[in-house]
Amino acid sequence: MTTSGAQGAGRPAPRGATITGIGHYTPPRVVTNHQLEAAVETSDEWIVTRTGIRERRIASDDQATSDLAIEAARAALADAGLTPDDLDLIIVGTASPDMIFPSTACWVQDRLGARRAGAFDLMAACSSFVYGLAQANAYVGSGMADRVLVIGAETLSKITNWKDRSTCVLFGDGAGAVVVQPCPPGEGFLSFHLGADGSRGDLLNLRGGGSRHPASYETIERDMHYIYQNGREVFKFAVRAIPDAIEAVLRQANLTGEAVRWYVPHQANIRIIEAAAKRLGEPLEKFIINIDRYGNTSSASVPVALSEAMEAGREQPGDVLVLVAFGGGLTWASCALRWTKARSAPRP
Ligand code: ACO
Repeated sequence: MTTSGAQGAGRPAPRGATITGIGHYTPPRVVTNHQLEAAVETSDEWIVTRTGIRERRIASDDQATSDLAIEAARAALADAGLTPDDLDLIIVGTASPDMIFPSTACWVQDRLGARRAGAFDLMAACSSFVYGLAQANAYVGSGMADRVLVIGAETLSKITNWKDRSTCVLFGDGAGAVVVQPCPPGEGFLSFHLGADGSRGDLLNLRGGGSRHPASYETIERDMHYIYQNGREVFKFAVRAIPDAIEAVLRQANLTGEAVRWYVPHQANIRIIEAAAKRLGEPLEKFIINIDRYGNTSSASVPVALSEAMEAGREQPGDVLVLVAFGGGLTWASCALRWTKARSAPRP
């Protein structure tokens, strides 16, 4: 599915939508590759060369996903100059919700005090944040909402098998949030491309605890409450999905790679990002990369990278950015946007 601001003849131009506030939160506890060497048979050298990851942030025992989401949300609201009461809608993308229900978005809505806002979770695994931006664009563009908070938040450490070296070295915790508001058409979001291939759901999943395999002693014994992935197959999928999704969203916006100032990719493996850059014929310097410090934080990875880059003064008003993600489902999603925000103040 690909969409843009283009209209059919005779239809009034819908409103544009743009990011007016951004923020992120990562838990203070750092776990390095060397610390993991003590827990499973692995090495810093293997992890760095195979993935690009050097360390990750891990939530404390009493921190759930909504706790991280709320910190990122507060930062994004402050950046936009809004209060929680201003919000019409809260969308949380997460693969590690506080509970199956109620939604993590509802916990965030209550704790923020966003009394006027509707709230729901969106599940497209690691693509959830970019899918959420597409939702926010549609709500704001159609006039159904004026101020939407979109959050990507994860505590993957809670659903990671810390005895499985093939997955536990990859994941980390974090949250990123943006506020989406109206803007003139042609500014802000330019196009979206969303895709899914449900026939490949077996490659990346968490099988236990849902209605297919309700939680039981057996699901626990068989480690079905942890993330499972076929790493090699997901890798092969990702190195095609990222460039394909970038090309599709640029085509829809009538742009070429030359117009793009920054690519903000899902941070799953540095080799996936390098391969995508090579396929596109783009220099790696145009890709915002922070996987070395956070690992794969699923739906939080794109907004955390975007927010950190904003604090560092990388995005400037008028820059064209492409956000791109892939994940379980399988799913993929990309978004082209013209940045409209002046630099955010660095947080204390
Ligand atoms: N330390 C040391 N050795 C390891 C480790 C480890 N942590 N993990 C695996 N190995 C070993 C394997 O056992 C294997 O040994 P063998 O050859 O004796 O069998 C060898 O290393 C190579 O294993 P591969 O799986 O082929 O390694 P690969 O180069 O494919 O890297 C990785 C694995 C990093 C998982 C890669 O496949 C990858 O990044 N895949 C994509 C992952 C991804 O993007 N997932 C998205 C998830 S998003 C979400 O759902 C939250």
